[in-house]
Amino acid sequence: MAINRKIQTLDEFTIQQMRNFPKATGELSGLLRDIGLAAKRVHVEVNKAGLVDILGDAGTMNVQGEEVKKLDIFANNQFMGVLRHGISCAGIGSEEMDDIVVFDDDISNQSKYVCLFDPLDGSSNIDVNVSIGTIFSVFRRVSELGKPAKSEDFLQQGNKQVAAGYVIYGSSTMLVYATRRGVNGFTLDQAIGEFTLSHPDIVCPDSGKIYSVNHGNYFQYDEPVKKYITACQQKTKTTGGPYTQRYIGSMVADVHRNLIKGGIFMYPGTTDKPKGKLRLLYECNPFAFIVEKAGGKATDGNQRILDIQPTEVHQRTPFFIGSRLMMEELESMA
Ligand code: AHG
Repeated sequence: MAINRKIQTLDEFTIQQMRNFPKATGELSGLLRDIGLAAKRVHVEVNKAGLVDILGDAGTMNVQGEEVKKLDIFANNQFMGVLRHGISCAGIGSEEMDDIVVFDDDISNQSKYVCLFDPLDGSSNIDVNVSIGTIFSVFRRVSELGKPAKSEDFLQQGNKQVAAGYVIYGSSTMLVYATRRGVNGFTLDQAIGEFTLSHPDIVCPDSGKIYSVNHGNYFQYDEPVKKYITACQQKTKTTGGPYTQRYIGSMVADVHRNLIKGGIFMYPGTTDKPKGKLRLLYECNPFAFIVEKAGGKATDGNQRILDIQPTEVHQRTPFFIGSRLMMEELESMA
């Protein structure tokens, strides 16, 4: 079968984008290629997840005599491995690791970027065959090149991200990433093992019909959030409701759907957990960057997510994100 040369692979796309910047070194393209490579490895393992009882449980030996790792640890190791051995990344922060890891070797110390990621978000859904994802955020270092990266490279405001993206392991596997130039989506063509451009220039509709929130926590939300949820359930002039409630419990899948179709996703603080559950640096910042670049909005209920000055790698924040007009309706409830 002849290959359709109208397709554009992730590598071709990033290199073409780079040509618009005469001073570009290709490091960001290399970083995205490395992330795409790790994502393909994780895709293969995610697709085998249903066989885990046949192949062996985590912590036991598989047929090759290797220890079977939990999938989120496997994913973490894949992303860390490709970034450590690539030439574009000076260090990483990950949901799976307590502290940042600075690679500190001759090549990595010359690398311009650091990366933060959640290797497998929604991992409690693995056992039940529901979509899960990887989320990543890329910053240019502020510390001196030639020396090891420092914590200040990771603790930058989200508005300093140079790229952010996610991979969704769903009915197909997709990699979506944003730079300052826009948001583009690539679907994994399993026949050729390449991410190919399938969703160019993604724009988030200004409004939609979907709201996504954990209703089980309703009585623990503050009054403006309850008021907005009630508005979502009613037919009013302003919201155009009632909306449809959709909540997978896998943020990558929930926000991806709302990005494409229009909608709002909320993980508010609760009386038990005032800062909510989601992590600023590798869950909220990347999605806020992507959705804003696509025309939507993201806040913590008071301020723009991208303007929050982080103080620690694993800090949490309430999170509201989605279509511009729906977010403005929510803001009007305060
Ligand atoms: P985990 O990776 O532990 O499964 O958490 C997933 C995250 C996020 O993806 C999702 O939107 C949220 O947690 C769901 O949390 P609740 O079950 O509390 O609604």
